[in-house]
Amino acid sequence: MSTSESPTPSSAIVLEGQLLLPVTGRGLEVALGRVVMRGGVIEAVHVGESGPRADLGSPEHFICPGFVDAHVHLPQFDSIGVDGMELLEWLHQAIFPAEAKWEDERYASEMSGRVARQLLSFGTTAVAAYATVHPASAQAAIDVLAEHGIAGHVGQVLMDREAPAELLLPAREALSAAGRMRGRGRIQPAVTPRFAVTCSREMLEGAGRLARETGWVVQTHLSETRAECALVKRLHGGENYAEVYERAGLLGHRTLLGHGIHLADEELGLLAMRGAWIAHCPTANRFLRAGTFDRARAMSAGVKIALGSDVAGGPDRSMVRVARGMIEAAKERGTRPPTSAEAWWQITGGNAWALGLVDTGRLEAGCAGDVVVARPDSRWREAADPLGALMYAWDDRWVEGVWCGGTRRYG
Ligand code: GUN
Ligand code: ZN
Repeated sequence: MSTSESPTPSSAIVLEGQLLLPVTGRGLEVALGRVVMRGGVIEAVHVGESGPRADLGSPEHFICPGFVDAHVHLPQFDSIGVDGMELLEWLHQAIFPAEAKWEDERYASEMSGRVARQLLSFGTTAVAAYATVHPASAQAAIDVLAEHGIAGHVGQVLMDREAPAELLLPAREALSAAGRMRGRGRIQPAVTPRFAVTCSREMLEGAGRLARETGWVVQTHLSETRAECALVKRLHGGENYAEVYERAGLLGHRTLLGHGIHLADEELGLLAMRGAWIAHCPTANRFLRAGTFDRARAMSAGVKIALGSDVAGGPDRSMVRVARGMIEAAKERGTRPPTSAEAWWQITGGNAWALGLVDTGRLEAGCAGDVVVARPDSRWREAADPLGALMYAWDDRWVEGVWCGGTRRYG
């Protein structure tokens, strides 16, 4: 596997298999065919038995767009499975010490490389990711993910209170460093105030200004646990949680809000009006016992939904298992679960849309060559619901190859 910025191959590569294809007005369907990639993009999609000779794949292979993770923490990949604590204690006991190690830029760079390779091995080709408060390390994370061909957004975390001293940066200094982040390759910086607990009013308002000046994606956490909501009320003069972000100018159609479990109707209405996204993180919510998000309620309030692994709050790195977690959470709430096709769409085209990545998430001519090739060992096509069978039986060992921007990055 290549670990550096590889030149985009100029000759065509042809992949054959059962293609996960968008169908206008009807979601997704699976059809035998071939994907032709050239110059970093999908040049053509041929449906049917005939077409150019395949370099890889067969009618037994499953080919889908690369997965998109809408909420993930890069410095937390070695902290998966630290159990038995609720959110605020877990942050202080497990997560902040892990993030403090990113003070060392070389450590951050090495870990970002490891994380990038893991993401690719699970089929994830685009992310909205948190780094840490350390500017040089956040820049290193942007650079390293870009070198691996991954697309999306990576943010220097902003915190100026309620965390260990070594992880705090005063608002002025933190914001000025965040404004100097540089995008690289397919990764853009993101404005990343961690959450209203660890950010003063000055920090939040400065983050809002930075977002307006740069047009970068905003990512933060919102209403994950009841204890967190109570603390935000105490720290922000009794305001409701969503209103705190609204007053700081942080809510817009490029805002990704992790969790959003314990929101009042008027908060959901506000998010809908602003066009902000909730990044639903079902596997994290279960692991940290934060509560079960009511996706159906948020959607009927008009809020758009993305989906995130939230590693290490979530123990699963595979977006396919996170998608399954989304179905299971809806069942737990007693609401209509998303169909398997909706779940596959969420982790591909749906999340790409949430991240503003209009040229990925679909096997379509003109889209980036972000593709996963897998060889399932089950008879999923004979099942009553083939995409459901594939999702529930999914095995990462099936993944034979992952392409980012037309370059093979895994397998
Ligand atoms: N809220 C603030 N920071 C975090 C974090 O790192 N993970 C999760 N799950 N929730 C948070
Ligand atoms: Zn998170």
